[in-house]
Amino acid sequence: MCGIVGYTGSRDAVDVLLSGLQKLEYRGYDSAGIAVMKDAGIELRRSVGKLNNLTMEILKRPLSAHTGIGHTRWATHGRPSEQNAHPHMEGGVAVVHNGIIENYLVLKDELKASGAVFKSETDTEILSHLIQRATAEGLCLADAVRSAVKRIKGTFALLALSEKEPGTIIGARLECPMIVGVGENETIISSDIPAILDVTRKAIFLHDGDIVSITGGEVEITDFEGHAVDRKETNINWSPVMAEKGGYRHFMLKEIFEQPRAVTDTFRGQVLEEKGEVFFDGFDIDLSSVKRIYIIACGTSWHAALTGKYIFEDFCSIPTEVDLASEFRYRNPLVGESTLVIAISQSGETADTLAAVKEAKRKGATVISICNVMESSLTRETDWTFMTHAGPEIGVASTKAFTTQLTALYLLALYFGQTLGTLDAGRIKELIQELIKIPKKIETILDSADYIEALARRYFHYRDFIYIGRGINFPIALEGALKLKEISYIHAEGYAAGEMKHGPIALIDEEMPVVAIAPRDATYPKMLGNMEEVHARLGSIIAVVSEGDTEASTRADDLITIPVTSVYLTPILVTVPLQVLAYHIAVQKGTDVAQPRNLAKSVTVE
Ligand code: G6P
Repeated sequence: MCGIVGYTGSRDAVDVLLSGLQKLEYRGYDSAGIAVMKDAGIELRRSVGKLNNLTMEILKRPLSAHTGIGHTRWATHGRPSEQNAHPHMEGGVAVVHNGIIENYLVLKDELKASGAVFKSETDTEILSHLIQRATAEGLCLADAVRSAVKRIKGTFALLALSEKEPGTIIGARLECPMIVGVGENETIISSDIPAILDVTRKAIFLHDGDIVSITGGEVEITDFEGHAVDRKETNINWSPVMAEKGGYRHFMLKEIFEQPRAVTDTFRGQVLEEKGEVFFDGFDIDLSSVKRIYIIACGTSWHAALTGKYIFEDFCSIPTEVDLASEFRYRNPLVGESTLVIAISQSGETADTLAAVKEAKRKGATVISICNVMESSLTRETDWTFMTHAGPEIGVASTKAFTTQLTALYLLALYFGQTLGTLDAGRIKELIQELIKIPKKIETILDSADYIEALARRYFHYRDFIYIGRGINFPIALEGALKLKEISYIHAEGYAAGEMKHGPIALIDEEMPVVAIAPRDATYPKMLGNMEEVHARLGSIIAVVSEGDTEASTRADDLITIPVTSVYLTPILVTVPLQVLAYHIAVQKGTDVAQPRNLAKSVTVE
């Protein structure tokens, strides 16, 4: 995690850096800082807490320059404090870093033994010392960075600035994202796309092992050995406006309301409605040899993965397992050449997911991915990628990325069923038509957002919640609970409703609201039974039911209705009101929805 940004050109670097950091704040927000090049040398401003504190600090002690680097931090080594905030400065060299240096203690001892004095508890400070020493020995900044990265073990996206080469910024990347935005006589470099969009939409996505030197509009990329490397320029089709709040109070709310568009964009071009066919460009994997599917992911993406099991097994009759990426890589999964691994990640940069993908490839599996960020590390690691078209997701709590992942899994399973002949043509056509109706149905649910907000006002004071669901909606119970805890800090657990009687039912009393996901499907009668059990023990029930339901109202205290759809698409529709509910409960509680404590959107460390 952590966000880094650098700028060199004719604009005021301080403005560009602050605005870039604001777009990257979702990556961490426990401290922030910038270092800019002045005639008299590098000037530093750092502040603990949110970016706003840094902005205030700069207002108090104004600063302007044409070259600089900045950082917003999610603490790994060393608590959040001004001392530990980046940039770290040593004798005319300033460094910002995203990642972890695993051998930092060994290097720190070595540097201390030769006289280095450390001012912070961070691993990053090693880099400012190593780079500064190399420049003092006569190396240019690029070579100094090269020599430093060869000594460290771990992961990094780093930027360095030296008083000896004003106007130049050197960047290096290994397993953490870094994008170069190429403008007219100016260059911006950043951890993620939204931060470059105010300057340019032309981007170069750096690869692992790249070292980049930027000066004004000049960009030079080499490898760790100093050999020139050619990287293609890509045009970004996200507009700066897409990365703005557009009148909504929080990105999360904006992104919830964008879901009809996001889902449409994700299936648009992949389905031929008239013919009743799913169409994928460039998919040349031989599905007939696939004996088992593994879906791997983290966090919310893992919840999407869990629904995938139900769809793939039903549509294509291939045994499908789902694993948390962080677990998959540390056990010995039965993965081989006949296994297809599907990795799901919004950012495409989650360290655990990337490591699991590498492990699966090592074992001979074919690996494909579902991802929302073009040219991210995951898209490069995998044999084929289904790009979701959620657009930039800035809200720390994932919303539109999740429903587009659900859409992607549905389409993939349809395509597999079509290719393998496990679904007949009529059924495929029917399922495509159901999908096409989903955006309108999401809009209908969003039309009742005020009603859900009123519910939130009644429920926000509870300390605990249970979410229950069955079948394909069991993962949505997990996701609903996760959304609530992430942003409201209310303790919430998701359970498969059939498991209630094996333990969780002991928790039910009048202080325990239960959100019961009970659309009309094969498990509906059982869900009614589970609601009875809660009702009898005085728990309040908010039930999410299908339009026209008359039975659930006798057991539930409150009802949220969703339009009728195919069971395989109910997860998308159920998710939306649960997001709205979590959002409004958090707003009622007054928690920081934009920057929930201890979280970061993109977890690029293990
Ligand atoms: C973090 C975020 C979650 C996200 C997870 C996986 O924990 O806070 O919202 O689901 O990472 O992220 P990915 O980008 O791989 O989907």
